[in-house]
Amino acid sequence: MRLFLAIPFSPEIRGALAEAQDQLRRQGVQANFTRPENLHLTLAFLGETDRQAAVQQVMAGIGQPAFSLTVGGSGHFGDLYWAGVRRDPALLALASSLQDALRAAGFALDRRPFRPHITLARQVQAPQPPALTVPARTMPVREIVLFRSDRPGGRLTYTPLFRQKLQ
Ligand code: 2AM
Repeated sequence: MRLFLAIPFSPEIRGALAEAQDQLRRQGVQANFTRPENLHLTLAFLGETDRQAAVQQVMAGIGQPAFSLTVGGSGHFGDLYWAGVRRDPALLALASSLQDALRAAGFALDRRPFRPHITLARQVQAPQPPALTVPARTMPVREIVLFRSDRPGGRLTYTPLFRQKLQ
């Protein structure tokens, strides 16, 4: 299974991100847009593994309290356009303690630094470089979720497998 750990969004933030995708569409952007129900913030990407129980054990051992997450701003990595996330200490601490604990449990994670972002559109093609404004919005984060990524019928689908409440 292809697994990753992520924070799902409140309906309000999901709506704001869907509106940001509409901004791109209104500018004539052609792209592979993330379906609104798939929008999330990845904390750690595990890739192919059958060690779901070990991942859940790591999640259960994270002693992090609930915190506030602020979404806003935008950018792109080449032709992948994203909405930004404020680099608050609580978020960075959560991501790094998860990644450290996963490595200690034997998972080979990407060595690249954590760059929190929310992918809105991939393979963007636009008549001119698109403008993308994502106003700041804050939500409480009370849980983290283990997702499986697969493509039933060719449609990219993220299925929640396990939820861990923060304290
Ligand atoms: P992305 O949106 O920038 O591709 C599920 O694929 C999630 O894991 C996505 O949020 C994806 O980020 C993230 N991810 C991180 N590293 C990845 C990798 N090496 N391959 C695929 N997805 C990765």
